[in-house]
Amino acid sequence: MTSRTSRDVLRRGLSVLGRAVREQPRIFAVAVTGSVLFGLLVIASAYVVGGVIGDVVVPAIERGSVGVAALALAAGVLFGISVLRVVGIFGRRLGAGYMQFRLQAAYRRRVTRRYLELPLAWHQRNNTGTLLSNANSDVEAAWYPIAPLPFAVGTLVMLVGAIGSLFLTDWALALVGLTVFPALFFLNVVYSRRMAPRQARAQRLRAEVSGIAHESFDGALVVKTMGREAQETARFSARAGELRDALISVGRLRGVFDPMLETLPSLGTLAVLVVGAFRLRDGAITVTELVSVAFLFTVLAFPVRAIGWVLAELPRSVAGWDRVSRVLDATGEMPYGDVTLDPADPTPATLAFAGVGFAYEPAEAHLPGAEVLSEVSFTVPAGKTVALVGPTGSGKSTVASLAVRLVDPRAGTVHLDGTDVRRLTAGSLAGTAALVAQVPFVFDDTVRANVTLDRPGIGDEDVWAALRLAEADGFVAALPEGLDTMVGERGTSLSGGQRQRLTLARALAGRPRLLILDDATSAVDPRVEAAILAGLRAPAAHGPAASILVVAYRRATIALADEVIYLEQGRVVARGTHTDLLATVGGYADLVTAYEQAENEPKQQRTPDEVTPLASGLEIEVDR
Ligand SMILES: Nc1ncnc2c1ncn2[C@@H]1O[C@H](COP(=O)(O)OP(=O)(O)OP(=O)(O)O)[C@@H](O)[C@H]1O
Ligand SMILES: [Mg+2]
Repeated sequence: MTSRTSRDVLRRGLSVLGRAVREQPRIFAVAVTGSVLFGLLVIASAYVVGGVIGDVVVPAIERGSVGVAALALAAGVLFGISVLRVVGIFGRRLGAGYMQFRLQAAYRRRVTRRYLELPLAWHQRNNTGTLLSNANSDVEAAWYPIAPLPFAVGTLVMLVGAIGSLFLTDWALALVGLTVFPALFFLNVVYSRRMAPRQARAQRLRAEVSGIAHESFDGALVVKTMGREAQETARFSARAGELRDALISVGRLRGVFDPMLETLPSLGTLAVLVVGAFRLRDGAITVTELVSVAFLFTVLAFPVRAIGWVLAELPRSVAGWDRVSRVLDATGEMPYGDVTLDPADPTPATLAFAGVGFAYEPAEAHLPGAEVLSEVSFTVPAGKTVALVGPTGSGKSTVASLAVRLVDPRAGTVHLDGTDVRRLTAGSLAGTAALVAQVPFVFDDTVRANVTLDRPGIGDEDVWAALRLAEADGFVAALPEGLDTMVGERGTSLSGGQRQRLTLARALAGRPRLLILDDATSAVDPRVEAAILAGLRAPAAHGPAASILVVAYRRATIALADEVIYLEQGRVVARGTHTDLLATVGGYADLVTAYEQAENEPKQQRTPDEVTPLASGLEIEVDR
């Protein structure tokens, strides 16, 4: 079983390496050429050293005088070989480095691009930590063996050359070589096989330790307020202790094998000297040959380890590659169509849902996905405002996601200006409809960058206009550096209501023809909320009013809408004006009234504009 799996790892590891070579063939060729040059020169240098000893030094000792010319020639040749070896090393290192880092960069780009192509459903199944490590350490791990790969390939060529040259020299010495080199190779294989699981374990524990650390920092508030510091520390130190043990076991293995790997070639040299002495006595070889071979054994020991390095990295590489290719091969991306909507169209857009059904993918594939929306049909006519009202979990945010095509419906169609949104280009979709999500996301950047998002054609004038419409100009003007103020990671330096208005301004700055507000003003004062919506509905100075689909709870806000769609458990149960629904639909009246009462009670304690969101009605359960 074990050998089957490790053979499997070897096979798959080699195929990952093969892919690398296919992707960067020229650079790989440069690196391998450098490495082969180096290997052949190592053999040559052994023979030159042997020649110097046997043909210059020994005769000189016998004669009592040194042949200066011969010595100078030998020195010149050795120097030449050294220079060429430097060239070889340079080519190999440069090539291997280029190859490794280019592959890493290329795959990082591929993975992150893929993230953006993959649908929301995929992202919801994969946590942020995994995505980060896929793009980072998994890509790195996949291409780790690239660094020693050219060296290892060159070494294989060198070993073949060395054994060949041994046979040309003397069969008895060749037999010693045939024993020692494979033994060295085998020892390397055993070493890397033993090492691999230990390294893998250490790698996994490293990720776990940092995961726990990350979680406890992230959840510092909860940990502190719940008094869980001691337990949290214990959880962390248990895992840190495991990591320590894993690393010690790596070190212990190294302690055993490293000396063996050092010793084996010396034993080989010893064997060469013993066997060689007999062969010399029998006149089968010369002093030159004996010295050459003995020297060859000492210089070969180091390069052979390169093969071990590659083998040792293969399991990690395969594991990394598996995780990377899981992202690259993930399916379910939503291809865009090629229909474009006129970007300069001055009229508000029409949104229409026709018999839309939707179910989220279940967490585990074998479970059925529960129907979240069924037979949802409604229209937001051009320039009109439609309010979407419904108890928590009724599917309002899902409708919002479908409208901007974060997800595709399972049944039915979503139309934008009469075109199925699946047929629109990405640019048309983004340029026409803007969603202000229920949970605002603010980038760790300036106010200006958060509003413009680097979209072209949005100047400071437009930024201020958008901020004004979002009723955010007041607080931004009061910030120490105005538009240039950094808002901190996830906008931590802003209040909840300020964050919401900033993301609203971001949507408005793109001058969308359809605006979808998913509870986007829940954290602002009701008066401000009504003012924002009223401002959005009035044709603004800089352009026509957009069509608006607004998820809302507050009576004052809903009353501004031209029509109200009332959703319950994923179905449209009623539609009409606010007044009609209040009078005719019991559930609707209950919901709106319950929200109003809940909002009115704690009002006295809150300062306007900086209110804590009353959970935006999220927690209000309506009993019916
Ligand atoms: N990513 C998801 N995976 C699985 N189920 C989901 C997912 N998101 C929402 N749901 C489920 O779909 C249903 C509708 O959720 P949705 O977020 O659309 O409700 P909502 O009306 O926006 O609620 P709220 O008023 O609380 O924001 C809920 O039952 C919810 O549990
Ligand atoms: Mg919602």
